[in-house]
Amino acid sequence: MKRRHFLFGFLPAALLLTVAAAGCSPQQNTAGGGGTAASPAPGGGSLGGDRPKIGFVVKSATEVWFQQEWKFAQEAADKLGFDLVKIAADDADKVLSALDNLGAQGAKGVIICSPDVKLGPAIVSKAKDNNLKLMSVDDRLVGADGKPLADVPHLGISARDIGRSVGKAIAAEMKKRGWKPAEVGAVALTIDELETARERVGGATEELVKAGFPEANIYRTPWKRHDIPGALDAANPTLTQHPDVKKWVAFASNDDGVLGVVRATEGRTIPASDVIGVGINGTSGVDDFKKPNPTGFFASVLLSPRRHGYDTAEAMYRWVTEGKEPPKETYTTGTLITRENYREEMKKEGLL
Ligand code: GLA
Repeated sequence: MKRRHFLFGFLPAALLLTVAAAGCSPQQNTAGGGGTAASPAPGGGSLGGDRPKIGFVVKSATEVWFQQEWKFAQEAADKLGFDLVKIAADDADKVLSALDNLGAQGAKGVIICSPDVKLGPAIVSKAKDNNLKLMSVDDRLVGADGKPLADVPHLGISARDIGRSVGKAIAAEMKKRGWKPAEVGAVALTIDELETARERVGGATEELVKAGFPEANIYRTPWKRHDIPGALDAANPTLTQHPDVKKWVAFASNDDGVLGVVRATEGRTIPASDVIGVGINGTSGVDDFKKPNPTGFFASVLLSPRRHGYDTAEAMYRWVTEGKEPPKETYTTGTLITRENYREEMKKEGLL
């Protein structure tokens, strides 16, 4: 699969020299609720003179993907000389109070992956009230009609294509193991309210069916709590309902979903050799590759948290300092990784 080139270019050498001290220590805030609301970065803010402040709000601080995104955004802040305020907001109240907080701190812009994309119009108006330029990352905001907010610049993944490569990888591995499609069940974890998740799972389903996998054997299973234990809980009843199925494949919108399904198969002592799970992100899933014996987590599509973190932060910095608005839509690609090539591919992404 081809990788697109960075859209935002490389940094002029002079800018590289303006590295400031702020942000050297990780700063993670939880907006609202817990009493640890966002506060100015140590050494940043007013001490920085003209140093702009930019917020990076994500829906989960515990998911490895978002930790990586923050890490690369921080790299951009250190190189370009701005203060990055990292805020985790897992519900509507926290999102809205994060935006007020950023406004109160004098931040100029915010990049957001909202826990609920339907908050789109509320986020747009809060950002406006607080004089924050706004862009979304990963999960595209939608309006009351469910359509994407086309005016808000967005950077996400090419979800359908990446989903297709998941389906192809599963079909190829089934063939290699000599599995008969009619005897195999698929757990497809779904988050239907989120377009990128719908497209990923839709792309994988499309390719599997194209490869001869019976559509009736694809058990769509809603994934309500978007973490590994939540995926395990979702998968268990599906596995229980089909005791006759001995071989399983699994796909979802990301690694955590597939890991949960794989853990559920392990809980039922289904051998790893009878399970083919293929994730997306290449972040949490690699922990399984590091285990001495293969698990049912067979492969993942490695995305680029560097592009999602660094490039969005740089784009926002250019917007607030130079008035250069980011492209309305940017979509990134991924690379299939397995136990065989993950080290090499992760090194290329600066993840190892
Ligand atoms: C969504 C998923 C994350 C990650 C990003 C990538 O937000 O929940 O795990 O895959 O998309 O854009």
